[in-house]
Amino acid sequence: MSDLVYLGGTIVPRRSAAVSIDDRGFLFGDAVYEVLRVVRGRFIEAERHLRRLARSLHEVSIPDPGLDLLAVSADLLRRNGLGNAEATVYVQVSRGAAVRQHAFPPPGTAPTVLVTVSAFSQRSELLTSGATAITLPDFRWSRCDIKSVNLLPNVLAAQRAAEAGAFEAILLRDGVVTEATRSNVLVVVGGVVRTHPTGPFILPGVTREVVLELAGEAGVVVREEAVGSDDLYAADEVFLTGTTADVMPVVKIDGRPVGAGRPGPMARRLGALLAERIGVGAPGS
Ligand SMILES: Cc1ncc(COP(=O)(O)O)c(C=O)c1O
Repeated sequence: MSDLVYLGGTIVPRRSAAVSIDDRGFLFGDAVYEVLRVVRGRFIEAERHLRRLARSLHEVSIPDPGLDLLAVSADLLRRNGLGNAEATVYVQVSRGAAVRQHAFPPPGTAPTVLVTVSAFSQRSELLTSGATAITLPDFRWSRCDIKSVNLLPNVLAAQRAAEAGAFEAILLRDGVVTEATRSNVLVVVGGVVRTHPTGPFILPGVTREVVLELAGEAGVVVREEAVGSDDLYAADEVFLTGTTADVMPVVKIDGRPVGAGRPGPMARRLGALLAERIGVGAPGS
């Protein structure tokens, strides 16, 4: 975590940054967020992240703060000595501070904008060896496409995974794999990559989108269709995608090996293509 943060128009030391107790992000979880990756000053897939943030804001009717987020982030990275490093940028926009009532506050209530930056280093040993996962019921709401800070179900599921010694919890809604607590889930069956279609039950992951495009360009057949729990256990490969997970092979689910129990060729191939695109070393290289 870095020392200086951007909050409500100014750059302040993290220890003195304070949000009002009336802030609707604090009281209601009435806020959306975005996480971007930065490699030596270069924002990865910035346009897609900014587009998704604008969409999240639109879907919950929080006014767009109209800030040049990349300029603010670049300044913050530089001031925190991360201008030439690998880092992540966290952006949160809440509906602002107002007298507590469920319905929206009066027009003109200023959204609260928070931007923080952190040094990032990929857990490359996990990318190489593969991660483990558990499955859990997906009891989230039906607007998982909005990147909202209402993450309690994700928090509880991630904690269950941590307690089980697993990297992620793969979520099942009515027997269908939706996504995981902080990543999307893709499976490989007979050389075909399958993943839940976009819609209300998953976050349209930026990495998922990029990896599906890279797969298509490489001639891999991709199908955005439901994957049942039986398909999950019987898959040749399972992997996760995310801004900080990259292409993370899953080698064990609920204690059962996935395929041969080690990262498979599709995850390695797509992981290498993604690494090349991001401009970082390929896993295992
Ligand atoms: C629930 C969920 N699904 C998927 C993702 C992956 O999205 P992205 O690739 O845009 O990081 C995230 C990332 O935080 C997430 O929270």
